[in-house]
Amino acid sequence: MRIAMIGSGYVGLVSGACLADFGHEVTCVDSNAEKIAALKRNEIPIYEPGLDQLVKDNATAARMFFSTDLAAAVGNSDVVFIAVGTPSRRGDGHADLSYVYAVAREVALALKGFTVVATKSTVPLGTGDEVERIIREINPAADVAVVSNPEFLREGSAIGDFKKPDRIVIGLSDDRARAVMTEVYRPLYLNQAPLLFTARRSAELIKYAANAFLALKISFINEIADLCEVTGVDVQEVSRGIGLDNRIGSKFLHAGPGYGGSCFPKDSLALVKTAQDLGSPLRLVETTVAINDQRKRGMARKVIAACGGNVRGKTVAILGLTFKPNTDDMREAPSLSIIQALQDQGAIVRAYDPAGMAAARSLLNDVHFSENAYDAAAGAHALVVVTEWDAFRALDFNRLGKAMATRILVDLRNVYRSQDVAGLGFAYFSIGRPASPLEPKQAPK
Ligand code: NAD
Ligand code: UGA
Repeated sequence: MRIAMIGSGYVGLVSGACLADFGHEVTCVDSNAEKIAALKRNEIPIYEPGLDQLVKDNATAARMFFSTDLAAAVGNSDVVFIAVGTPSRRGDGHADLSYVYAVAREVALALKGFTVVATKSTVPLGTGDEVERIIREINPAADVAVVSNPEFLREGSAIGDFKKPDRIVIGLSDDRARAVMTEVYRPLYLNQAPLLFTARRSAELIKYAANAFLALKISFINEIADLCEVTGVDVQEVSRGIGLDNRIGSKFLHAGPGYGGSCFPKDSLALVKTAQDLGSPLRLVETTVAINDQRKRGMARKVIAACGGNVRGKTVAILGLTFKPNTDDMREAPSLSIIQALQDQGAIVRAYDPAGMAAARSLLNDVHFSENAYDAAAGAHALVVVTEWDAFRALDFNRLGKAMATRILVDLRNVYRSQDVAGLGFAYFSIGRPASPLEPKQAPK
């Protein structure tokens, strides 16, 4: 199959590379000329484990190409995937579909022969209808089928998720398109990944409902964690105890500082807005959005309380800036609201992240960016684990303790256990577990 992937960001580049790896011929298109020039030089614009090698291998094998010429790529393809961004529309929280519709207009003029246009971007119910309307209005003679093919990969494990998905959802009503999409995913189908064919609008709603449900699950365990904190119960025991019930499932039950990222926050909000507009409000999702917003802001209060109620003039070291490990993506990262709130209360912030420093520099002011965890801890009155990178899972607490002004560890990802660190003189605070507020030791002079 010849495939044009329009939009070469986190989703487009990973999907393009994986489809090329299956043997298809894929042209990744982007309107960002710098991004395409970098890709042609084998430079990967994002951090995603394994992606650099996958892109390099497939480009070298002449299965993966990069271009800014959308028309040429579309005219030469059996399938055109739309994988551009659908951010929150400024002001009202609806999905901003301007990039999707702009691509639809360009695609319409470039179609040659029967072509499937598959929307991989996360788009609200009815967007496929509008994409089809745009294309038919601009090019009434076009032989085209517009399908919905939402993507469920996660950043940080994107290649594995794409290649071993739980399911592939394809919304369509055209038999020729069904045959084409079956061929596109045939290598996965052979791996037993179910192809779920649905109506186009169902596919669009499945994507939002899945993200909203996962967001809701996280907010649920986060609220249970709050209850655990006032009752002295350990939320990890509760997570395990309920997660072993197959009807509930153990995934997405890790309590933390609130979900972030480029998708859960914007998608749950967009779903809320769509449902409100259609007169069928989703009150559970509305509440989830509110709980998560409050939680991210509230995490700074936890740090301040751990520091004795005041951080003015104190130094706080932040470990982990990205919204989750194994990505450089800073979109809606909890670290952003935590750092802002700490600075508002007069704290001096030092920070380190294994992959997110470049993106963080453009988003954060007055932060001292450090070389590593120990450099960040130098002179700090508290150390806060915000993102659970592997590099923070086996820290040398003796070394940290010597570097810090006071030994306070606030672990917002429950990476440690209090017994791991309390013996080393650290006051330890985590999420939904009994605190061990030892009098923090002064570091030896
Ligand atoms: P992104 O911002 O990383 O990438 C989008 C790319 O599209 C950018 O490189 C941009 O330059 C390009 N683009 C914009 N307009 C264009 C045009 N007219 N022609 C060609 N290229 C154009 O976004 P992303 O994170 O890859 O997300 C893309 C979509 O996939 C969104 O709808 C998102 O909700 C959805 N999604 C994302 C993830 C994820 O993990 N990031 C997972 C599943 C679904
Ligand atoms: C999420 C979904 O998991 C993907 O299926 C979906 O394709 C994607 O959104 C999307 O639509 O873009 P992603 O945002 O990359 O993927 O990462 P997740 O692993 O889902 O994490 C999202 C946020 O939830 C992170 O901030 C993470 O720390 C948090 N989280 C996750 C928790 O706090 N607890 C958990 O148990 C799981």
